[in-house]
Amino acid sequence: MLLGVNIDHVATVRNARGGVEPQPIEAAKICELLQVSSITTHLREDRRHIKDKDVEIISKTISTNLNLEMAVTDEMQQIALRIKPHSVCLVPEKRQEVTTEGGLDVAGQLEKITSFVKPLKDAGIEVSLFIDPSGEQVEASAKTGAQFIEMHTGSYANAFGTDKEQEEFLKLKNAAKLAQQLGLKVNAGHGLDYKNVKRMHEIGGLCELNIGHSIISRAIFVGLESAIEEMVELVR
Ligand code: PXP
Repeated sequence: MLLGVNIDHVATVRNARGGVEPQPIEAAKICELLQVSSITTHLREDRRHIKDKDVEIISKTISTNLNLEMAVTDEMQQIALRIKPHSVCLVPEKRQEVTTEGGLDVAGQLEKITSFVKPLKDAGIEVSLFIDPSGEQVEASAKTGAQFIEMHTGSYANAFGTDKEQEEFLKLKNAAKLAQQLGLKVNAGHGLDYKNVKRMHEIGGLCELNIGHSIISRAIFVGLESAIEEMVELVR
């Protein structure tokens, strides 16, 4: 399995003082040096952490695959088509949420998502859909033309260590299997940390895990390089 590192919260810290430090591009350079498989930034509609300029600078400076997380909006599609990241991950977005809550409802907006995916794919961008691990969402995702799904691991992460853990874990395992049978490649992410990440190895054939908050949190105490290296070791 590969590790994609989400560096949004470097920008969260920077924005807390409205200044220039710490800079997401510096984090991206460390990720590149450590040869992580991708660097993820979520350009939110409200620009609460990563800003347009960050994405611009990272995409121009870094050769590691850039994965742009984005909402299904015309504005974001235009930005992606201009910047041409290696991949985009389509996520639902609500202004009030603290972080991405729940997956994209692909089944409920199949036509919209399908037509949104096409120009991105035609531009050579890999498309991933961030969905809850449900059969309905997986089956719908397979009809959109997207090459990847990213399974939302938030419910598993919240249930980790409780009597609900196994139930949530099995949802991920079954959804991954179904997706692979339908020809989709499968990533996973959200809420994964240095403990709960280990069970991802029990799910066959996952391509990449996208992890942000726990890595940036650990980096405060051990430095970003060590925090990434420790996670790479667990994910490998
Ligand atoms: N994947 C997606 C689609 C996300 O929205 C996020 C959070 O921005 C992550 C992965 C990373 O989640 P976390 O920061 O909890 O590791």
